[in-house]
Amino acid sequence: MALLGAVLIGYLLGSIPFGLIVTRLGGAADPRTIGSGNIGATNVLRTGRKGLALVTLLLDALKGVAAVILFGALFPEPQPPSLPAVVAGAAAFIGHVYPVWLRFKGGKGVATLLGIALALYWPCGLAFALVWLLAFATTRHSSVGGMTAAVAVPVTAAVLNRPDLTLAFLCLALIVLWKHRANVERLLDGTEPRFGGR
Ligand code: G3P
Repeated sequence: MALLGAVLIGYLLGSIPFGLIVTRLGGAADPRTIGSGNIGATNVLRTGRKGLALVTLLLDALKGVAAVILFGALFPEPQPPSLPAVVAGAAAFIGHVYPVWLRFKGGKGVATLLGIALALYWPCGLAFALVWLLAFATTRHSSVGGMTAAVAVPVTAAVLNRPDLTLAFLCLALIVLWKHRANVERLLDGTEPRFGGR
């Protein structure tokens, strides 16, 4: 029951499309109609509304945090995180990337993975943030930041000897990479847009 609840509630939490809700409430363009067409914070930023992008980033990360904290509190273990907390976080990620409400066309999972990593094992979240910042500062491509940061999460879990988390994080990171396949094509042919005009 605990795991079934974690899957269902985690998925429902993750499937809330904050990028769409925030842009609609803020009177900005639908992010699906501009830029990459993605509903994440990066593409919300392309509406020209920095504040809405920041709110999208925070809410997309927070839904991952909320799923983990909720199921960690409901099913605590002496050595956290409990399995229901991990499952709820992973389900929230899947809900964000494949939301039933949007015919399974959701975001790329970057912000939600950050939230889950922070909530499950903060060193992985810290590694994510540092790698994202470094990659973005170097390339000015949000997609490069997102992909490298996602890979840093399972690598950090493995290096810090957390096999309980490494496999789950590896699966999520692979989904992040898969969702960036159009970005990779644009990066390879030199058409991926940069931020900050370089
Ligand atoms: O977090 C998503 C980012 O990595 C890429 O977004 O809109 O440039 O495809 P976008």
